[in-house]
Amino acid sequence: MKRLVVLAWALAVVLGSVHGDVRRQWGEQGPPGSRPHSVTITEFGAVGDGKTLNTVPFQNAVFYARSFADKGGAQLYVPKGRWLTGSFNLTSHLTVFLEEDATIIGTKESSQWPVVEPLPSYGQGLDLPGPRHRSLINGYNLTDVVITGNNGVIDGQGSVWWDWLSSHELNHSRPHLVEFLYSEEIVISNLTFLNSPAWSIHPVYCSNVKVHNVTIKTSLDAPFTDGIVPDSCLNVCIEDSTISVSHDAISVKSGWDKYGISMGRPTSDIYINRVDLQASFGAALAFGSEMSGGISDIHAAHLKIHGSNKGFSFKTTPGRGGYIKEVVISDVEMDGVLVAIEFTGNSTSHPDDDFDPSELPVIDQITLENMVGTNISVAGVLLGIKGDPFTAICLSNLSFSITDSAHSSPWSCSNVSGYSESVFPEPCSELNTPSSDSSICFSLASYSATAVA
Ligand SMILES: *[C@@H]1O[C@H](CO)[C@@H](O)[C@H](O)[C@H]1NC(C)=O
Ligand SMILES: *[C@@H]1O[C@H](CO)[C@@H](O)[C@H](O)[C@H]1NC(C)=O
Ligand SMILES: *[C@@H]1O[C@H](CO)[C@@H](O)[C@H](O)[C@H]1NC(C)=O
Ligand SMILES: *[C@@H]1O[C@H](CO)[C@@H](O)[C@H](O)[C@H]1NC(C)=O
Ligand SMILES: *[C@@H]1O[C@H](CO)[C@@H](O)[C@H](O)[C@H]1NC(C)=O
Ligand SMILES: *[C@@H]1O[C@H](CO)[C@@H](O)[C@H](O)[C@H]1NC(C)=O
Ligand SMILES: *[C@@H]1O[C@H](CO)[C@@H](O)[C@H](O)[C@H]1NC(C)=O
Ligand SMILES: *[C@@H]1O[C@H](CO)[C@@H](O)[C@H](O)[C@H]1NC(C)=O
Ligand SMILES: *[C@@H]1O[C@H](CO)[C@@H](O)[C@H](O)[C@H]1NC(C)=O
Repeated sequence: MKRLVVLAWALAVVLGSVHGDVRRQWGEQGPPGSRPHSVTITEFGAVGDGKTLNTVPFQNAVFYARSFADKGGAQLYVPKGRWLTGSFNLTSHLTVFLEEDATIIGTKESSQWPVVEPLPSYGQGLDLPGPRHRSLINGYNLTDVVITGNNGVIDGQGSVWWDWLSSHELNHSRPHLVEFLYSEEIVISNLTFLNSPAWSIHPVYCSNVKVHNVTIKTSLDAPFTDGIVPDSCLNVCIEDSTISVSHDAISVKSGWDKYGISMGRPTSDIYINRVDLQASFGAALAFGSEMSGGISDIHAAHLKIHGSNKGFSFKTTPGRGGYIKEVVISDVEMDGVLVAIEFTGNSTSHPDDDFDPSELPVIDQITLENMVGTNISVAGVLLGIKGDPFTAICLSNLSFSITDSAHSSPWSCSNVSGYSESVFPEPCSELNTPSSDSSICFSLASYSATAVA
């Protein structure tokens, strides 16, 4: 029953009918995120000259806004200007609104980004073992938060962090731009996110998160910058957005090895619709490689992918445990992609040496359908794990025009099985297992019908 309610919510989001519900939840005062009370960041002494450090004004403004939490909540208004700040927290029932030409800028002083414990499902920081820098804008244990604007900008000035990482001067793992932990009913919309030190938007242990109409960019040669990373989250909807980063544009995760296994928080019910993705060294849409809490029920449609190393990448390794299953990706245009489809069972980075190689991941019921690709070098590299094959990998109605004749074979497969129909170039024989038919495939149509019934 609970599951049906959850599904109904997610379907409502996909069908665009959630607006009415959101307005009902916030009262009838107007557009989503409007609040009966408003404060302006300048009332707390902030100066938008791009030089004055405004960490304390942001912290004080949020502290004041908290007093309206049980009175319908408050808006924190950020007017036109360049608002330099270090890390600050949000509060429940808050809307942060960035006016046109308002830019929140992350300071280059690393001391303004305090160091906190690593996430429990990771055990370690991602760049370096041990603690990590807190993100620029943080939500911890919150409900009903909106970050929106009239196309304001949140700029992380990530290049200092990228340089520290490359020159081994970093003391702790890099911060993200926006991170929510243990939170629900989050909306992020109508904004531009630039040059995050690491990831741009990271909801972790959250539910009911909607990211709509955002632009995310980082320098394409930055080291490992990801766009949106739904991580151990339920019900995340990402729509009508443009992401162009150096590593994975959208990366679906759920924890790392034994830390993720013991935390046991899966990612499920993720809806991705109408997005434009570029991932210069990573994948436009990636799964894992941290997936130890499990990933399932992922629906992605109407994707445009260009200038990327990989189109889709499913990454795992022995020791990771967990699963990636019940994924359907459809209606995709790709152009200028090195490897359109990657499955790898050999993503070998571990939080520490203390992993159990007998914890084998399950990769099952992944459907990729209705895709057209131009200027593709390799159609697919699908390498499962010996003794732990990836199963029910289904390809339907895919057409890739291969331009790079230097790669001898458009497909390479091992330790995978599945089904394919109307795929050009002709896929490897592993995906035409003689005994299997399309009934092994996970399908959006039958899934939605079941959910609605
Ligand atoms: C985003 O902008 C659109 C168009 O102006 C508006 O309809 C929508 O309500 C905005 N979203 C939020 C959360 O303010
Ligand atoms: C921000 O939230 C974190 C986690 O709850 C807390 O440890 C920290 O003290 C908060 N910082 C401020 C300035 O409120
Ligand atoms: C999280 O929020 C809930 C309800 O708002 C509260 O009861 C709980 O103490 C909070 N936990 C922490 C660690 O702040
Ligand atoms: C997207 O956001 C911009 C402002 O950032 C707004 O002008 C535009 O109307 C929004 N579009 C939609 C479809 O919400
Ligand atoms: C690393 O720590 C050293 C010693 O405390 C400090 O001087 C340096 O600024 C730190 N580097 C960064 C990038 O925070
Ligand atoms: C093909 O894609 C590659 C990689 O994105 C790009 O460098 C190249 O210019 C593209 N070629 C054509 C003919 O579009
Ligand atoms: C996995 O990758 C490592 C290098 O990262 C390589 O040494 C090893 O041979 C690979 N294993 C398999 C089974 O491909
Ligand atoms: C095959 O995929 C293309 C591209 O997405 C789409 O236009 C076409 O309708 C699909 N054909 C069928 C039979 O679904
Ligand atoms: C599984 O992959 C290994 C290499 O990683 C290969 O030696 C073995 O033949 C493969 N098994 C099957 C059944 O394809």
